[in-house]
Amino acid sequence: MFKFKSLFLLLIIATLCFQCKSPNSSVETKIDKLISEMTIEEKIGQMNQLTGLGLNDDMKAQIKNGTVGSILNEVDVNIVNELQRIAVEESRLGIPLIFGRDVIHGYKTIFPIPLGQAASWNPKVAEIGARIAAQEASSVGIRWTFAPMVDVTRDPRWGRIAESCGEDPYLTSIMGAAMVKGFQGDKMSDASSIAACAKHFAGYGAAEAGKDYNTTWIPEMLLRDVFLPPFKAAVDAGAASFMCSFNDINGVPSSANKHLNVDILRNEWKYDGLLVSDWGSIEQIEDHGAAENLKEAAEKAITAGVDMDMMGFAYNYHLKELVNSGKVSEDLVDNAVRNILRIKFRLGLFENPYTKVQKDAFYKPEALEAAKNAAIESAVLLKNNSLLPIDKKFKTIAVVGPLADAALEQFGTWSFDAEPAHAITPLAAIKQMYGKEYKIIAEPGLVFSRDSNATGITKAVAAARKADVVLVFAGEEAILSGEAHCRADISLPGLQNQLIAELKKTGKPIVLVVMAGRPLTIEKQISESDAVLYAFHGGTMAGPALADLIFGKAVPSGKLPVTFPRMVGQIPVYYAHKNTGRPGTNFVTIDKIPIGVFQTSLGNTSFHLDAGDKPMYPFGFGLSYTTFSYSKVKLSAKKMDAKAKITAECTITNTGKMEAKEIVQLYVRDVAASLARPIRELKGFEKITLKAGESKTVKFEIAADQIGFWNLENKYITEPGEFRVWISKDSQSGEPVSFRLE
Ligand code: GLC
Repeated sequence: MFKFKSLFLLLIIATLCFQCKSPNSSVETKIDKLISEMTIEEKIGQMNQLTGLGLNDDMKAQIKNGTVGSILNEVDVNIVNELQRIAVEESRLGIPLIFGRDVIHGYKTIFPIPLGQAASWNPKVAEIGARIAAQEASSVGIRWTFAPMVDVTRDPRWGRIAESCGEDPYLTSIMGAAMVKGFQGDKMSDASSIAACAKHFAGYGAAEAGKDYNTTWIPEMLLRDVFLPPFKAAVDAGAASFMCSFNDINGVPSSANKHLNVDILRNEWKYDGLLVSDWGSIEQIEDHGAAENLKEAAEKAITAGVDMDMMGFAYNYHLKELVNSGKVSEDLVDNAVRNILRIKFRLGLFENPYTKVQKDAFYKPEALEAAKNAAIESAVLLKNNSLLPIDKKFKTIAVVGPLADAALEQFGTWSFDAEPAHAITPLAAIKQMYGKEYKIIAEPGLVFSRDSNATGITKAVAAARKADVVLVFAGEEAILSGEAHCRADISLPGLQNQLIAELKKTGKPIVLVVMAGRPLTIEKQISESDAVLYAFHGGTMAGPALADLIFGKAVPSGKLPVTFPRMVGQIPVYYAHKNTGRPGTNFVTIDKIPIGVFQTSLGNTSFHLDAGDKPMYPFGFGLSYTTFSYSKVKLSAKKMDAKAKITAECTITNTGKMEAKEIVQLYVRDVAASLARPIRELKGFEKITLKAGESKTVKFEIAADQIGFWNLENKYITEPGEFRVWISKDSQSGEPVSFRLE
């Protein structure tokens, strides 16, 4: 008897171990069982994502037939629950739907656009923003967001730079991973967690001419060095899904790119999440000219590992025939369905498919406070002739410009569910918070950013003449950035430049506050202003945040996540560029060329006659109301072998009068390698707070595997030789110290 008992006990323990060893084994077992029961129509149904049409009868019938796996853009919780009820209680297998929505930088409480959040260099800002977005969106039944967008881009003409975290793979990786964490929470099955979606896989930000959807030419080593790392970081952060990009890479549309989606994403990175196409991107394989028809597009996409077809109907119309004809193995369909069911199990949708209707889920005080803080940390001080913060000696303040009181515009792009009535504009905040201390005169001068009607400028100038200081809120309407909203001229739209020039003539001190979805070419406007605060699009609480910054309740700490060109002709211009054989030095610019000079050297180095070789502001640049000094960098060794690590440290001192934050940046350069490497690459950063006079020593560890690169054989290598290290306030400052990797 005893033997039998101990055997039984052993069996129990073994089963439990097996269970706990692979916690998902029970999910995989359930998935396998479900798949074994599904018809081919039901399998293909799971791979079909449709946009919400309310309680449309045809939609309800499709759900009942089990031929819809996901719905996007339905945000009426009662409709969500009713459609879910049909799926769960009326379809044959009761597989729940997953409801998706672009909750990119907030659902109702809107945070700064991701480019602005990246300027905070604070992953907590991104994580908290995503967490609040998830809490608000999940309250209406959204359990899948199509974010974070982790496309690196070096082209501010591209409208979607607004949704990106800028030009650097390391910063984008850190911020993107933080957003994944925020969206998905500690447990994906919590009702307030929503599945993240790393997008757009991949290389979308390299669109030629900064024109959306345009072709890209990306050598694999550049793809792996620059464009893929943030996606790998999203995998490591546990992103539940990925989305294909619209572009082709070297002629292969991403939705048909087996090397990208299978070799790299599945086989190299061992990714088991869901890969969804972008809107119609499977169908567009034909438009790319990479498929004869929708059927061939479907075949290419399923072969390239795309699990779900967002509004493309390719799978719906052709996959069954492709499987029945033997052109496509049903195993490929089963794999796709497996990935789809897995995300639904992980979200707990089988156990809890319905959404509990909540009251006042939106705009909670703590959400608004977090959004205000995010907007404060996202603003970058570009210039300050001691005008900011506003001195109490000023009694009358003119608030002008088309963005001073434009609630809708300060949300920025991808803010479908935002409500202007809940936004606080800069003018409203300044009146509310400082209307008693100062006389405020408000005159927009222009009605909207593209306004070409100059009649209002006279009034704005008149207001300025009556004031002691002028606050100009300029920039772009929200619609001028985002998807398919690219600009070939990235100066201030409309007559804003004329407005600023007229204001300048009054001789009054000018604070220029820019709210935009991209870097703008505003060199002249900056020269006409005494202080410039770049706020990107700051979201619901942009007003109170900017008021605190302008009047000194908060101190600017943001740093640029993207290079600001002097003129559009410099693009692409970015900090991590190669040195070239003739780096831009001792050149003569166009205004310095003597008249009648014969064909002579103007400096045979890499520069533009009419722009020089430097941008307006470099990546990582940002001022404060205080100043900081950086000590010489100290290294723990002068030599390092490939297995060791080296520590670099620097002491930063707040040499001014105000407590402030400083973003300390670590850059490394591989001085001589088998391939020319960038003159600097960001390898670390730390945001510190220092009281006036306080010092702090910041230390960074550098390991060999952080400073390698992908070579022509598609291998990640770190080669011996000299490496230079900077710890600096931006990507152009500081003195390097060297070490040798043995
Ligand atoms: C759009 C975008 C993508 C978005 C999707 C759903 O075209 O490219 O980022 O998530 O469609 O709205």
